[in-house]
Amino acid sequence: MNPSRSSDASGRGIISLTERGKTVLSQKRVLSGMQPSGKLHIGNLAGALQNWVKLQEKYDCYYFVADWHALTSQYAETSQIKDSVQDMIINWLAAGLDPDKSTIFIQSWVTEHAELHTMLSMITPLGWLERVPTYKEKQEELKDKDLSTYGFLGYPVLQSADILIYKANYVPVGIDQIPHLEITREICRRFNHLYGEVFPEPEGLLAEFPKVPGIDGRKMSKSYGNCIYLSDTPKEVEQKIKTMMTDPQRIKRTDKGNPELSPVFQLHKVFSTKTEQDEVAEGCRTAGIGCLDCKAILIKNLFKVLEPIWARRENLLKNQDAVRDILQSGTKRAKQAAFETINEVKKAISLYT
Ligand code: TRP
Repeated sequence: MNPSRSSDASGRGIISLTERGKTVLSQKRVLSGMQPSGKLHIGNLAGALQNWVKLQEKYDCYYFVADWHALTSQYAETSQIKDSVQDMIINWLAAGLDPDKSTIFIQSWVTEHAELHTMLSMITPLGWLERVPTYKEKQEELKDKDLSTYGFLGYPVLQSADILIYKANYVPVGIDQIPHLEITREICRRFNHLYGEVFPEPEGLLAEFPKVPGIDGRKMSKSYGNCIYLSDTPKEVEQKIKTMMTDPQRIKRTDKGNPELSPVFQLHKVFSTKTEQDEVAEGCRTAGIGCLDCKAILIKNLFKVLEPIWARRENLLKNQDAVRDILQSGTKRAKQAAFETINEVKKAISLYT
């Protein structure tokens, strides 16, 4: 076994060893991406980011901003994409993604994704794409937009390219992304069947807290206007929690409530300890505590999570050049890995190289 390539400057992750002509990665690889379609909120934090931060301790992680994916539905109104990308990167770093541990980059800066997308598009049957449930659902949901485009139908092919180009083993995603992962695995198998084993079959890693309710109890989503953003000030966060609805049946302080009917309690389930959850639930049921007391505990716990993020955000906002440097070195590292796969793919397909 000869080391064919040493690791990057940080000494992590991508040491590969050549064993009878096969590349063996020393560490399992994780990849995930997010679309820059608005400011990040605490739902993204608890549902994805905190998990990403944990994974970087154990795996060779690649995290990227999926700006081409944002174009598939926002091609007619692109003005906010740039700001969303910037907000996203700053929040990722503020939440604890560490550029020495993870490779952090922007999809459109690594043009090899588009190259692989083109090659995968040749082997992807139209029927597979038309059957992906999110295809029709999203078209229904975004009726004001014309999503009968080539790019939108090909969304899962691009996502497959994102994943396969790094030979990712694990893909942490929310439950809504499972169909995209399924088609990635199908495309992977079809490629390997046609041209030989190039790609490992990626597996999904479901996040621990798939759903975080917004301040109105529905799923936290920009389109519902019910978000608590990572960029909100402490005052704004406090205000949003204080005005949240609770159990609608509990009108007076002396009324006994049902915590399960209160979105405040749903947030406790994400941000408070089990003991605190039990205490507020009991207090609610017996009218031992009022809704404001319950909210004060939630605010305290949210602040505990958000305070270090706010501090780091402030620092990063003052050091935009450093943020750019991080993206540039992340892109360089990602490009190197992507370039190797592209060469392997071209050889497997027998393109003239
Ligand atoms: N489709 C994902 C989302 O909307 C974003 C994404 C693009 C992605 N490419 C990916 C996620 C690759 C995981 C892996 O959330």
